[in-house]
Amino acid sequence: MKSIKIIGTGSALPRKVMTNFDLEKKVDTTDAWIRERTGIEERHIAEDETCASLAVQACLEALESAGRSPADVELILVATCSSEMLLPCCACQVQSAIGADQAVAFDINAACSGFLFALETARAYIASGVYKNALVVGTEVLSRIIDWTDRSTCVLFGDGAGAVYVEGTEEEHTGIISMVSGSDGSKGMALSCNARAGETEGDVYVKMDGREVYKFATRQVPACISKALEQAQMSPVDIDLYVLHQANIRILEVIAKHLKVDMSHFPVNLTRVGNMSSAAIPVLLDELNKSGKIRSGQKLVLSGFGAGLTYGACVMVW
Ligand code: UT7
Repeated sequence: MKSIKIIGTGSALPRKVMTNFDLEKKVDTTDAWIRERTGIEERHIAEDETCASLAVQACLEALESAGRSPADVELILVATCSSEMLLPCCACQVQSAIGADQAVAFDINAACSGFLFALETARAYIASGVYKNALVVGTEVLSRIIDWTDRSTCVLFGDGAGAVYVEGTEEEHTGIISMVSGSDGSKGMALSCNARAGETEGDVYVKMDGREVYKFATRQVPACISKALEQAQMSPVDIDLYVLHQANIRILEVIAKHLKVDMSHFPVNLTRVGNMSSAAIPVLLDELNKSGKIRSGQKLVLSGFGAGLTYGACVMVW
């Protein structure tokens, strides 16, 4: 196989919506501060939903839109950093729930870059002939690992899941054309969460040096996208849509400026869903696909960045 292409998409958001005004009642913040500094207006917060239940819904939708059944699936890759259960992994819970009996299933944790890293893993497996297809999922219930008394983080995140079903393709100039990813573990503590609950009270929540992550994203993402475009022999203006990790509207604006591309090519849903880490890109992709905003033959860049610190970009033809 030369590469992979996305055949179907799906997504799921928890029912409960939390607005900035709801947050004003919890912490010392304002709707105006959150909107001006991030662009976020509201986010979905899980109540009875879990990483696995949201992922199951997203996967079933992706399979339905691809016209495939769970029995067809050979590989399930779930990107998550907030799964309720360490064992079994979220991907195995999804496999069991959807009845994809033939699939190999495992999780990938690369935080907000997780979906892209999982997509790259699927491409490597499928292009080398190990599997023929894959469900690639990003799912998060970040509200579980957020300190709801810390205004510098709790206003940023939301819960949700997105999934794509991919198959191998022999066609030229179709599907994923190029992919670049990277990690910088030396800056890992800029965005951390110590999962050893109970050892040190308070350590079990996400902690972030927002300015450090902001600087990293606005420097590394344009460089990474430029490299992926170079590999694809394309220039920034050739791209119809930049489907980027949805963390902060200001970060998207800086990246657009670096690439000299108008913001109209950068779809945004963070206003409604906040930062959903690994789920951000596949949820946005699904919304664009369902609303007919992505058409066959269009050129897309997907790019993510986050804890690790990690980053990645991919160029694809839809
Ligand atoms: O998915 C990848 C992970 N994360 C990111 O991409 C986040 C990257 N970073 C960012 O998006 C931004 O750095 C933030 C949105 C997190 C913060 O925006 P900022 O413009 O860098 O604000 P700041 O951290 O420099 O804080 C400015 C002020 C501070 O007050 P003083 O020291 O100036 O008096 C904060 O204490 O804003 C204060 N502040 C708040 N005020 C009201 C911080 N959080 C809040 C809040 N409401 N929620």
